[in-house]
Amino acid sequence: MGDESEQARPGAHVSEQWAGWRAAIDLAEYEARFTHDTAHGEADCLASLHPRSVLDAGCGTGRVAVELHRRGIDVVGADLDDDLLQYARRKAPGVTWVHADLATMRLGRTFHVVAMPGNVMLFCRPADRPAVVASCAAHLDPDGLLVAGFSLRGVAGELTLDEYDAAATAAGLTLVQRWATWERTPFAGGDYAVSVHGAAT
Ligand SMILES: C[S@@+](CC[C@H](N)C(=O)[O-])C[C@H]1O[C@@H](n2cnc3c(N)ncnc32)[C@H](O)[C@@H]1O
Repeated sequence: MGDESEQARPGAHVSEQWAGWRAAIDLAEYEARFTHDTAHGEADCLASLHPRSVLDAGCGTGRVAVELHRRGIDVVGADLDDDLLQYARRKAPGVTWVHADLATMRLGRTFHVVAMPGNVMLFCRPADRPAVVASCAAHLDPDGLLVAGFSLRGVAGELTLDEYDAAATAAGLTLVQRWATWERTPFAGGDYAVSVHGAAT
């Protein structure tokens, strides 16, 4: 996928923001540090929603999806960076891992929860953000929830909550809950937010 310069710059086919992250990180070292043991905050939060199924949208190396799978939850992981997906496949061959662009994916099924932990919204192409939200919304069960956590400090391409909520509204979703952390601290402004949207009624 991509032209020669993209192949020379890992992650450039995902976004400039993601290529910057990839350039600064040794994947093997990252993987050694960020195992599913570091995913319990996100996994606890997602599990507290009692999901019938979860799409980990932008799953990376499977940090969160592997932990959800370990807890017996029906989970699928999707990501556009095959280098990271390879780690995920190795760790949990029993999980369905899909190489897909969140902005255009058509997975042929829906999920009770579509989750985007780990700043996925900041690492996708800024112009594609509304399409990513719309595509995630299209993969929700009628009573499904879209859960996204991202930094508000402007790392890797700023995204405001107003912009994110506008994309959700355009996708037919409404805000159900907003926390400051994956431990579900109430949101009262601050540097990070976990937003939960469901179908607007
Ligand atoms: C910081 S990583 C987070 C990975 C994982 N969610 C976690 O919390 O460990 C951001 C991920 O978003 C993925 N991503 C960004 N834009 C994407 C897109 N349009 N389609 C699929 N994956 C995308 C990147 O490839 C990367 O794996």
